[in-house]
Amino acid sequence: MHVDRFEAAFIRLSIVMLAVFSVAILISVFGLGIQLPGVVDQINPAQVSEEPGFDNPGLREVYPGKYEVYIVVQTWQFTPNQITVPVGSEVTFFLASKDVIHGFKVLDTNINIMVIPGQISEFTHTFNEAGTYEFFCHEYCGGGHHTMSGVVNVVEP
Ligand code: CUA
Repeated sequence: MHVDRFEAAFIRLSIVMLAVFSVAILISVFGLGIQLPGVVDQINPAQVSEEPGFDNPGLREVYPGKYEVYIVVQTWQFTPNQITVPVGSEVTFFLASKDVIHGFKVLDTNINIMVIPGQISEFTHTFNEAGTYEFFCHEYCGGGHHTMSGVVNVVEP
């Protein structure tokens, strides 16, 4: 079968690009630890405050240097909205909404997830630099949307 010279070149090019994209995905997942926001479980929005973790929202150290934080999200606040961890901490965020769709974006990190009623959203991030990391809701959720914010303080131990 005759394949035109240019056609053959483009077939080769597409195979090479598929390989490059596959390698890029593998590097980002296993090398850089970039992950899709996880939906870990489902939750009844009307009973968020009774679910384990969300019944006592806040930060807990589960292992030296490893933290979990449960955040209840509702119009128009995050509870808690102030978190303080030592530098180098690996923090897993669990968020659940009691009402409408909200967002959770932490500045200067790649934490950027939606908080959909009925789902628990999870994201893990390691804070390697001390500083003040503001977070806010980035899904329009009503009149007080612009007031939904908080802060992760990463401090020297
Ligand atoms: Cu919550 Cu916008």
